[in-house]
Amino acid sequence: MPFTLDNVVPWGRSLDEYVRMFDLEKLSPDCRLLGCADGPAAFNAGWTRCGRQIVSCDPLYYFTAEEIQGRIDACFQMVLQQTRENQDGFVWNKTISDIETLGQVRSQSMQTFLKDYPHGLQEGRYVAAELPDLPFPDDQFDVALCSHFLFLYGALGAEFHRRSIASLLRVASQVRIFPLLQLDRQPSPFVREVIRQVEFEGHTAKIVRVPYEFQKGANEMLVLQKTGTGRN
Ligand SMILES: C[S@@+](CC[C@H](N)C(=O)[O-])C[C@H]1O[C@@H](n2cnc3c(N)ncnc32)[C@H](O)[C@@H]1O
Repeated sequence: MPFTLDNVVPWGRSLDEYVRMFDLEKLSPDCRLLGCADGPAAFNAGWTRCGRQIVSCDPLYYFTAEEIQGRIDACFQMVLQQTRENQDGFVWNKTISDIETLGQVRSQSMQTFLKDYPHGLQEGRYVAAELPDLPFPDDQFDVALCSHFLFLYGALGAEFHRRSIASLLRVASQVRIFPLLQLDRQPSPFVREVIRQVEFEGHTAKIVRVPYEFQKGANEMLVLQKTGTGRN
């Protein structure tokens, strides 16, 4: 299905959430990161401000800041309402204590992204591209991150997951994916399949507990390490 603005619900997380979801504290300072499906998250803006290297790719970047802002405005209350109706499925703590705070945190993250976006596009930090095929040369990145896309959306299917993982491992030495649960909080059936696929190809795979949990039970990432690489 072609990517259109109508079939995306822009919802972006903060730098702090990315650092915890992917346990980025211990990453080497010169690590070249790819953020795949970063959408309107504040990660690229914040990570760049910290003097670190990051390229984000997402089909959302086919659109202008004004178009993305319009889609955020159209979806924002609907997403908050859906979360309100499923409050029991989330961990409310001092960082995000209730629905109102969630709205503020997400809105602030997306505004940070929108402010950075035009400049980041010029600098090549935001690249319009979509899985399962990525337009980057082999091994351009040390680590590729994928937050809240693969595994979360079961409807993407097995073949899409297989091809996406192959692309991510082509462009990066290591791939980290979070979460391992689907939207309905059930474990994704594709995690085992992906582990089998990468191990068969001689790479390594491990599930790592991380210091982040918002969707209840989603506190692990999958780390894939390309054979013959071991940095970061
Ligand atoms: C739920 S959002 C997650 C945004 C961000 N990663 C975060 O965690 O805050 C899912 C993102 O996947 C992007 N997306 C949709 N189809 C994609 C594809 N084929 N390849 C890469 N990203 C895609 C959407 O545009 C959207 O920005």
